[in-house]
Amino acid sequence: MKIDLILKNIGQLVPCSGSDTPLKGAEMSAVDLLKNGAIAVNEGKIVALGDSVALTEKYAAEQIIDCAGKAVIPGFVDSHTHTVFGGDRVHEFEMRIQGASYMEIMSAGGGIVSTMRHTRAATEDELFEAALKRLDQMLALGTTTVEIKTGYGLNTDTELKMLRVIERLDKAHACTLIPTFLGAHTLPPEYKEDPNGYVDLIVDEMIPAVAEWYAQSHFSKDGVPLFVDVFTEDHAFDVAQSERVLLAGQALGMIPTIHSDQFNAFGGTQMAIGLGAISADHLDVSGSDEIAALASSNTIAVPLPAANFNLGHDIAAYPNGRAMIDAGCALALATDLNPGSAPCYSMPLVMAISNRIMRLTPAETLIASTINSAHACGMAQRVGSIEVGKAADLLILKAADWRHLSYFLGGNPVETVIKDGEVI
Ligand code: NIG
Ligand code: FE
Repeated sequence: MKIDLILKNIGQLVPCSGSDTPLKGAEMSAVDLLKNGAIAVNEGKIVALGDSVALTEKYAAEQIIDCAGKAVIPGFVDSHTHTVFGGDRVHEFEMRIQGASYMEIMSAGGGIVSTMRHTRAATEDELFEAALKRLDQMLALGTTTVEIKTGYGLNTDTELKMLRVIERLDKAHACTLIPTFLGAHTLPPEYKEDPNGYVDLIVDEMIPAVAEWYAQSHFSKDGVPLFVDVFTEDHAFDVAQSERVLLAGQALGMIPTIHSDQFNAFGGTQMAIGLGAISADHLDVSGSDEIAALASSNTIAVPLPAANFNLGHDIAAYPNGRAMIDAGCALALATDLNPGSAPCYSMPLVMAISNRIMRLTPAETLIASTINSAHACGMAQRVGSIEVGKAADLLILKAADWRHLSYFLGGNPVETVIKDGEVI
């Protein structure tokens, strides 16, 4: 049989299999290896994997890549990003280095609202061009699937503008994108004194408009889900307001997710679990109650340690990822790429931080960045592992030992990115 592509002589083929449910607790340590393997690819999909000699005898391919003993892993899935935004916040970065905190800057009218101003003022083309360059950097670092949130519009027009940009990016860029509506990111200045009025606007106007946008978008035609997210925090939304937003989105077919327990744990995580949220993200100050609730649920725990690193937190202020896995949670990792708390493109850097600060093993961080992350954005039937029938999203590493991904830091461990069977 003649096929498009074979990768042969893979020293370590790491499939990260597991499409039905996310791997939980100790299951996250089970990284199976195929030595001297090969992968056969046709029409963008994986058609076979197995022994290199056997597979190269069985298939004739248009293109053959000799991996020369190097390791091959699935493309990374970044399940939590704010990749579309106007402007930057480098001045706030300098202020924080000099002692101001993220929450002080936010309550003084900077932070998310500052990016909102730039995003409202930007044209669709400007937002598109800037985000396209960011996606290029992410892809070069091995990220092949990216969830992207709105949340810098904070009015109906600009939230829809962001969604149209995400849709254009998905068509224009090799990365597979998943959209999330985050109208409840913070209060826009015009509703500063009327938080419930803003929640009314989200529920009565934005969510129906977003559902209408989604229904005619290619995402819904392709079966890519739409998520609804909320930032449950002081200076953002309390638990009751957050629940209203998530329920309203859920009623129109959106899948709930949450930013919870970033600075204060006041019940957002438990509320989201109650709604069957796909994930709860940040979890910096989650305690044993929140962790136990996550462990006994289907909600995936998503620490975002690049945010802690960027905000200069002490080790004790990072999410307790170790305790989460030990308690039996399913854990995924993401960059949280955004102009404020986490200007970070790199999943390998997130893994490196997680290994060192949260004491997750290389196996756990690999699973958390591939198959579990695919589950956290509802895409595990298509991406996140090297399995027959899935998209051929593959990374040839520079090293023969896949653990070098976690071990060396600061460089790009990825030699070649293959997305949907195309060598990038
Ligand atoms: O995930 N915590 C809230 N939202 C973002 C930060 C967004 C921003 O600072 O622009 C986050 O960290
Ligand atoms: Fe975020």
